[in-house]
Amino acid sequence: MHDPAVLRSLHVSRFHEAPEIFLAPGRVNLIGEHTDYAEGFVMPAAIDFATLAAISPRSDGKIVVYSENYGDERVFEAAALPAGPSRHWSDYPMGVASILAGEGHSIPAFSLSLWGDVPLSAGLSSSAAVEVATALAVCSLIPVSYPGPVLARLCQRVENEFVGANSGIMDQFISANGVAGHALLLDCRDLSYKLAPIPENVALVIANTMVKHSVAGGEYTSRRAQVEEACAVIATHRPEVRFLRDATVDDLTLWGHEMSPNALKRARHVITENLRTVAAAEALLRHDLVELGRLMAEAHESYSHDFEASCVEADEMVALAQDIPGLIGARLTGGGFGGCTINLVEQEHAQAFAVALAARYSAQTGIHPRVYICHASGGAHFVESSSSESLAAR
Ligand code: GLA
Repeated sequence: MHDPAVLRSLHVSRFHEAPEIFLAPGRVNLIGEHTDYAEGFVMPAAIDFATLAAISPRSDGKIVVYSENYGDERVFEAAALPAGPSRHWSDYPMGVASILAGEGHSIPAFSLSLWGDVPLSAGLSSSAAVEVATALAVCSLIPVSYPGPVLARLCQRVENEFVGANSGIMDQFISANGVAGHALLLDCRDLSYKLAPIPENVALVIANTMVKHSVAGGEYTSRRAQVEEACAVIATHRPEVRFLRDATVDDLTLWGHEMSPNALKRARHVITENLRTVAAAEALLRHDLVELGRLMAEAHESYSHDFEASCVEADEMVALAQDIPGLIGARLTGGGFGGCTINLVEQEHAQAFAVALAARYSAQTGIHPRVYICHASGGAHFVESSSSESLAAR
C-alpha cells in the first residue's frame, strides 16, 4: 500500500514543511521483451504498485533525500550535485537532479521523501517509478513541465548516463504515460503508441518467482551486445538496417551463418518478438484472447530458448500455470533472469488461480512466491495535496 496521507505526515514530521506529492507507477510488460533498444515494439501496462515522492523547498542550499523503504536519509549540496553513481538507492533521485541540471536547469534546494510498494528487483520497474516520481517532483520546483514522452527520455538517461544501466525506453515511458485499463503498443522508434484496452473481465496476475532480477547485471548488457552484433552483420549486407527492428527472418536465413551462434539466436528472438508484439496488440483490439494467449506462450518459448533470458524457476512458474482454470496466457515479463511472470487470467478465476499457482510453485521449488492481482493503471501524476485517500487499497 502506498498512502499519500501517511507519506505526508512522515515528510512533515521529518522536514517540518508541507510537501506536494507525486506518484509514478511500476509496470508489467505483456509482450515485447528486449525489443525496445532495437527500436522495436513493446506492449506494457502501468500497474497499481507505485512510488510516491513528497517534495518541499529548503532554504539552506541542501538536497535531503529520504527513503521510507530503506529507512535512510542522504544529504547533498544543490550547488555540487554528484557527477556519478555511488551504488546506493539515492543514485536514482540524484541522477534525476543531475540530468535535469545537465538540461540547463538550476536545481533548487529541496527535501524529498520517497515511499513505494513496487516490489524491488522483481522486474516490475521499481527504479523507473522512483525516477519518474522524482522527476515530476523536482520539475514542479524548478518549475518546468515536460510532456510525458520527454520526461520518460530524461529518466531513461538517468539509467544510461548516471546509474550506468544500458536499458531501453520502455519502463520510464509506461510509468510516465500509462493509461488506466489499457496496455500501450509502443513503437520505440518514434515513441508513437496505440492504446490496447484490456477487457474488464481480464486480470493481470503477476507471479513473483522471488529470484532477483537486475538490469544493471552483466546478462542484460551481454544480451544487448549480442543483439547489436547480429544487427551489425546484417548491416554489412543491407546498410539500411540500423536496428533489428529493420531486419527480417529472411536476413537471418541469408546471413545468420556469419554471426556467432548466440547472436543468431538472440536476433531470432528480437525479430520474431516484434512481429508477435504487433500481432498481440491486434488480437487484444479484436478481443481474440485465444490468439493473445498463443502469442504469449510463443514469446515465452522464444525468450527462454532463443534469448536464454529465463531461469528454471520462471519456466516452472509458466509451466505450472498452463492447466489452471482461467488462464489466457503466461510468460516471463521484464528484463529476464528472474523476476515475475505475467498471467492474463479471466477475472472470475483470478483469486483461485493465484492461490493454486502459489501452492504449485511452492510445492515444486520450495520457494514461496508472491502473487499479485493487478490492474492496468494510469501513468505518473500529481496527487492532490489535501488527499488522505489511499491510492492502492488492496
Ligand atoms: C528492462 C529494461 C527495458 C527493457 C526490458 C526488456 O526492463 O529496463 O528497457 O529492455 O528490460 O524488455
